[in-house]
Amino acid sequence: MSAKRVNLIERDERARVTSLLDGYATRWSLDLVGRAIRNGECPPDLAFDRFLHPDHRAVSQQHWTPVLVAMRAAAWFEQHGARTVIDIGSGAGKFCVVAGLASACQYLGLEQRPGLVAAARELAAGFGVSGRVRFVEGRLAESQHLHADAYYLYNPFGENLFGPDDFIDQEVELSKERHARDVEATQRLLRRAPSGTLVVTYNGLGGPLPFGYVELACDRETRNELRLWRKREPPAA
Ligand SMILES: C[S@@+](CC[C@H](N)C(=O)[O-])C[C@H]1O[C@@H](n2cnc3c(N)ncnc32)[C@H](O)[C@@H]1O
Repeated sequence: MSAKRVNLIERDERARVTSLLDGYATRWSLDLVGRAIRNGECPPDLAFDRFLHPDHRAVSQQHWTPVLVAMRAAAWFEQHGARTVIDIGSGAGKFCVVAGLASACQYLGLEQRPGLVAAARELAAGFGVSGRVRFVEGRLAESQHLHADAYYLYNPFGENLFGPDDFIDQEVELSKERHARDVEATQRLLRRAPSGTLVVTYNGLGGPLPFGYVELACDRETRNELRLWRKREPPAA
């Protein structure tokens, strides 16, 4: 069989699978997705992603936290007594909205891209959680006054190290130098945070957590490693 014919069959097969999956996902209404997450059941990512803007849906698999991961992180936050959580680099709001549905904590997403902040606010309003799930526009380095009981980090600066095909868009500075600056700014923020501060990393932060953060749990069943850390008390003098 010619290579051209194989490509056509593969393309048709991909289109058939995509249309089957789309058909399946459309059975999930927004209400059904919201209720499932509130009840501790995990809907498929395709079902949740239907409620994202098409441009943001297209990059979901690579850039946004899967529903299952957000639900596990939210359970850890609640279990360990966090009331306020900041998602550093909150993107289209998927993590904060899912975690807000899955737990009673307050979530604040910090995001550098204004279009994503607007979309995230709409998503939170659609799912009826905007009272507890908020988003602010800003860059981490300029937002060092932020304080919370817990921080969530889905490798937020990794995009700086990707090639242009994997950028979310070309509207912000992306470079190795920026990656180093943003990782350092996060490390400074965590160094200043009080003892007891919780951190959840999904696929890491891009550098080590500062001295004093102890790993409490690690989930390796998720696509990337999900880890929970807590800042310990300083040793008695
Ligand atoms: C991997 S995505 C994670 C999105 C979201 N936390 C989630 O899990 O669904 C990282 C996001 O961080 C944002 N970001 C990267 N550097 C940032 C910075 N210095 N300040 C604020 N946002 C940043 C990017 O624009 C992107 O939307």
